[in-house]
Amino acid sequence: MSAILRLAVQSKGRLAQDSLALLQQCGLQVLRTPGALTARARGLPVDLLFVRDDDIAGLVSAGVCDLGIAGENVVREVALEDPKADNLQTIRRLGFSRCALKLAAPKAGDIKTPADLEGKTIATSYPAQLRAWLNAQGLGANIVVLKGAVEIAPALDLADAICDLVSSGATLIANGLSDFATVLQSEALLIGNDTALEPQKADLLARLLRRMDGVIASRATKYIMLNAPRAALDEITALLPGADAPTIMDLAGDKTHVAVHAVCRETIFWDTLEALEARGAKAILVLPIEKMMG
Ligand code: PRP
Ligand code: ZN
Repeated sequence: MSAILRLAVQSKGRLAQDSLALLQQCGLQVLRTPGALTARARGLPVDLLFVRDDDIAGLVSAGVCDLGIAGENVVREVALEDPKADNLQTIRRLGFSRCALKLAAPKAGDIKTPADLEGKTIATSYPAQLRAWLNAQGLGANIVVLKGAVEIAPALDLADAICDLVSSGATLIANGLSDFATVLQSEALLIGNDTALEPQKADLLARLLRRMDGVIASRATKYIMLNAPRAALDEITALLPGADAPTIMDLAGDKTHVAVHAVCRETIFWDTLEALEARGAKAILVLPIEKMMG
């Protein structure tokens, strides 16, 4: 029987969508029957398990799944809380589902800095990370655990401050809270455990990782094309962020300009485009790259 990798992903939510999108870009088609908790991917022999995000790290630690895609915030909480989970390993940082675990307090109140938390009560869904952070800061505070809707705790006099995930910041604003410290900058992780995979599974994982690395690299990478005045060519190529040796080509019927094509491995901001244009670059096109290898 040939090897099949078992991968745990979130069953629903933002992380779930982004995880499946990544797998799809890696050439894994996942047809999910509504209500089904597992699915066999096509493209590579991978079985998916659709579970709650808080369960992913535990399943991987216990070896029920070989791999998992989970938020760093949840993985760290499990790793701190469960002594058995010290075998978890981060295989790749995936760069999506970015958010931060932050401390916040009522805007109108008198908690403005970490030191103001001494002796106060903090509501959170992440008690282990909050406890570790308070200890590292040398602060003593009480922790109240809420599974959700943490932001409502100060208004209900359940807590003086909160420690919760912030993404856009809209929930904080809606609840009259303002953040003043960061416990963790989080993103989605591909995790495994420290048990060596059997050779066939290890080969399969290596293939999957090669594809994932290509997808992750191509996300920030763009293909840029422009026409540059010959006289400003050096200046213009120097502006291209993270570009390998660009391709320079003659333009038919235009001796004063050349075409410049380059792969830029860093984000191209509007500022860069404006600077290129200011030096005489014309017909600037920035194109996404779907896949990259080598
Ligand atoms: C998450 C998180 C924050 C909010 C942050 O809550 O716990 O409350 O989103 O997002 P924002 O900064 O973009 O507003 P979720 O919607 O998962 O609800 P829950 O915490 O009540 O489960
Ligand atoms: Zn919330």
